[in-house]
Amino acid sequence: MVLQAIRYQPGRLQILDQLKLPHQEVYDEIRNAQDGWHAIKDMRTRGAPAIAIVAALSLAVELQNNALSDRAEEVAAFIVEKLDYLVTSRPTAVNLADAARKLKQVVSAVSSVNGCGGAAVRQAYCDAAARMLIDDVADNEAIGRYGAEWIIKTAGNGGGLSVVTHCNTGSLATAGYGTALGVIRSLHAMGELKRAFCTETRPYNQGSRLTAFELVHDKIPATLVTDSMVSALLRLKGPSERIAAIVVGADRVAANGDTANKIGTYQLAIVAKAHGLSFLVAAPRTTIDLQTKSGADIVIEERAPQEMTRVKGPRFDGVDLDLSRTETVSIAATGIDVWNPAFDVTPANLIDGIITEVGVVEKNKNGMFDLAAIMPPQE
Ligand code: MRU
Repeated sequence: MVLQAIRYQPGRLQILDQLKLPHQEVYDEIRNAQDGWHAIKDMRTRGAPAIAIVAALSLAVELQNNALSDRAEEVAAFIVEKLDYLVTSRPTAVNLADAARKLKQVVSAVSSVNGCGGAAVRQAYCDAAARMLIDDVADNEAIGRYGAEWIIKTAGNGGGLSVVTHCNTGSLATAGYGTALGVIRSLHAMGELKRAFCTETRPYNQGSRLTAFELVHDKIPATLVTDSMVSALLRLKGPSERIAAIVVGADRVAANGDTANKIGTYQLAIVAKAHGLSFLVAAPRTTIDLQTKSGADIVIEERAPQEMTRVKGPRFDGVDLDLSRTETVSIAATGIDVWNPAFDVTPANLIDGIITEVGVVEKNKNGMFDLAAIMPPQE
């Protein structure tokens, strides 16, 4: 069965509650933009592409299920106000702001047509939001293919390749298939993957909870390591441990290629460089932000200290897990100060390639990524 974090049909949106994974698969009903905002803020849904799509669709179902004005400009103003609100849920991933900008353009174009009514504006909005869900899966499949081909070409494929990844970039973080995890899925489908190594990804554990869940679900040979084990892993010489590349996702790629991604990504890029290993970023073009010149301009979200100082999980009596009872336990000294940035920025000079749905961008002869060259014209 294909993993589906976002279930949408006109009038109905459900998200897989990622706070309950990997132990329980529970879908939450999202009825409006406010539900969408909270699902994103609480990280019941997460991952740069997924939060953009859930935000867009949460407003679509609100428009579909409620009476609206007949006046196009009133419906357009309502949509713009809700989109501005949705964008405040999480700041670092650009996909959400990018989706809101594109949806506003759609609404503005339709509502300015003479004689257009409120229903036509709603229809245009909902069609555009639904299209984002469909396009994201196709983009991810292309990213997976391009990334896998690049790795095979660069590392050679005698005996299969192993890859390290960080955070969760799979079906749970996107509309389906995934970006960096899409590359791993493609390598596996091509019969070229020896093993995927996924980091635990402290403090929120997207790796051990979510990526591990996806890899087990898809029966992809995989091993979990803590974030601090990757350097040691790269020194191993066994056949499974001969790592071909480290592949990660992105929340925002600046115009110069500097990349914000899950905290811990930067240290993996340094480790890759120290071991002469390829370090790749896999992201759709909706994650590339030409307006942000470099990583220094990216706002990094800081999250609650409790995400670091506490862990939550099903009760364990020493033999069995009791999935009906969740416990939260403290794992840090009470009173300690906490710094909990959700993301870090990897400088472009540590990145070997940016895998997009239109191909892998490598640095030019001046050592720069020319990302403008692959971007679609501004709608
Ligand atoms: O805080 P999260 O879980 O939303 O962070 C997710 C990541 O950093 C992912 O690597 C990134 O969004 C890419 S998802 C395809």
